[in-house]
Amino acid sequence: MTAPAQSVTHVSKFHQLLDAQVRNEMTASQQYIAVAVWFDDKDLPQLAKHFYRQALEERNHAMMIVQYLLDKGDKPTIQGIDEVRNEFSTADELVALALEQEKEVTAEINALVRAARAEDDYQGEQFLQWFLAEQVEEVASMDTLLNVIKRANGNLFDVENFLAREAVGDEGSDPSAPRAAGGAV
Ligand code: FEO
Repeated sequence: MTAPAQSVTHVSKFHQLLDAQVRNEMTASQQYIAVAVWFDDKDLPQLAKHFYRQALEERNHAMMIVQYLLDKGDKPTIQGIDEVRNEFSTADELVALALEQEKEVTAEINALVRAARAEDDYQGEQFLQWFLAEQVEEVASMDTLLNVIKRANGNLFDVENFLAREAVGDEGSDPSAPRAAGGAV
């Protein structure tokens, strides 16, 4: 007796990578919470606030991808997240990690664009344009923050004053951002 044929829903490589990117963005969000908590524990409220905000932005990025998949009728599969680092010795080390994380996300978005292009998915490619620009901004602002921290040479109150005075990054207020499932936070 032959086994009954199972219905297999075809999930494109691009769709699989988008599902994986939801996990990556959620991991980035959780990692930024760990960074914010580290600063909060050291009584550095501006640095903590900056990273709590970044955590929300990453969460919004994940939910924008979820919304896109829903809009396309491609049901997203929500996965768990990767390990998060909590132990750091210096602020430089923390922000250097954040900068590396942003560079990795840029590489992931580039890989997504390549996959969309390989599948002739023009709408997918168009959806990713906002993310490409966002990564330029996020890498630049993390690079700025790392420079400010290095220049402060251990005096993190100077960094706190800088952050209280200057906007670093767009703080998630971009009206051209794609819609996030459930609403952006
Ligand atoms: Fe969602 Fe900072 O990349």
